[in-house]
Amino acid sequence: MDQIELIHSGQAQLDALLNDVPVSHLDPYVTEVLSDPYPHYAELRRLGPVVWMSRYGVYALPCFREVKDVLGDQATYCSSAGAGLSNFHTEKPWRHPSILLEVDPPEHDRTRQQMVRVLNPASVRALRPQFEAVATDMVRRFVDLGECDAVADLGAAYPTKVFGDAVGLRPDGRENLLPYGDMVFNGFGPVNDRFKASLAEAAAVPVWIADACKRESLTEGSLGRNLYAGVDRGEITEDEAALLVRSLLSAGLDTTVFTLSNAIVNFARHPKQWSRLREDPSLVRNAVEEVLRYDGTFHSFYRTTTRPVEIAGVAMDTSQKILALTASANRDAAQWPDADDFDITRRTNGQLGFGYGIHACVGQMLARLELEIVLTKLAAMADSIELTEAPTQHFNNTVRGYKRVPVRVKAR
Ligand code: HEM
Repeated sequence: MDQIELIHSGQAQLDALLNDVPVSHLDPYVTEVLSDPYPHYAELRRLGPVVWMSRYGVYALPCFREVKDVLGDQATYCSSAGAGLSNFHTEKPWRHPSILLEVDPPEHDRTRQQMVRVLNPASVRALRPQFEAVATDMVRRFVDLGECDAVADLGAAYPTKVFGDAVGLRPDGRENLLPYGDMVFNGFGPVNDRFKASLAEAAAVPVWIADACKRESLTEGSLGRNLYAGVDRGEITEDEAALLVRSLLSAGLDTTVFTLSNAIVNFARHPKQWSRLREDPSLVRNAVEEVLRYDGTFHSFYRTTTRPVEIAGVAMDTSQKILALTASANRDAAQWPDADDFDITRRTNGQLGFGYGIHACVGQMLARLELEIVLTKLAAMADSIELTEAPTQHFNNTVRGYKRVPVRVKAR
């Protein structure tokens, strides 16, 4: 923090005390909290709908209603100051900001429109046969292995293949994608050792990514290559098309890899829910939503106030960072009966795992397609999935998932 920020945060802290706002000294980014954040979220919700986080000088919103209200009001809570802790209006971003996620309307309307032209119900539907074919082979092999690592042998392998092909990436070098996503998602948190390590370990990755995003690197007819049609129509520049392809690569792989591994871990821990899915595969859509509600991938991101505001009676100044704890909102008992139960038959409408409002995940149809296809095949082929050892978590400042999930799969 520089001096001006310190003064700003000191002033905000004073305001919090004067306002009688609950204060938490929790650091949501330390390993002990990330390994099981849910009791900490429960404590924040118990403190109130707006909590001053003394460690970072931000207000956290742990409850459903306030998170949804803030994400739904982009004029008051902007993204152009960054969707992370760092304030791009006052600090230099670590990379060129996303021209989709980290901009506001009307700029956002322009870039989102380009993305939606390429990524829409028809284009996602067209991917189904290829996604199904790969899943049939990969899930068969996974089940035949009997004992294996659900991340290496399925959770990471499947999206890397089908998503990489859909975007139009060449087969070699795809191992750069997960470290890149790791960097990006760590970058939404503080500049802590975890973020520094992901930058240092993957120093050469941004160069590979920049090259992979170029028009000539992408296969004809792919989602990535189709983004360049906007350049040919004179609607965006060549550099903007490359940045939109980069948005697909930053946001589209780690997220599905982690969601798939979270799904497998949660079904292994709740065998009754696995039996339910096997008995009634039509539950698969709701099962994906429940995985995202109960143990979602994106845990939090930020918005920044554009004017003085009041949330649940707490007054805040302009330029105040607000931590939207979507994963906590998804466990808020005021919204979800028996919120801490994993139940694939519950009503999941409105879960916030894909965000909400104008920045809600533009790739959610594609993500759902991948997840539904893999879980459907798995339910058809596997009687049971058991953890043979405790899974090894992959720690990241923003997203939650595993790097190793040793399992025993019994074929049907
Ligand atoms: C289960 C997997 C996924 C999850 C949990 C997820 C979650 C999210 C969330 C929570 C946001 C909103 C962030 C904010 O409001 O600041 C978002 C935005 C975004 N997602 Fe996803 N995502 C997933 C998969 C994907 C995929 C497969 C793609 C690409 C095909 C993708 C591309 C994007 C992009 C480009 C944005 C920015 C949209 C905008 O700002 O208008 N995501 N995602």
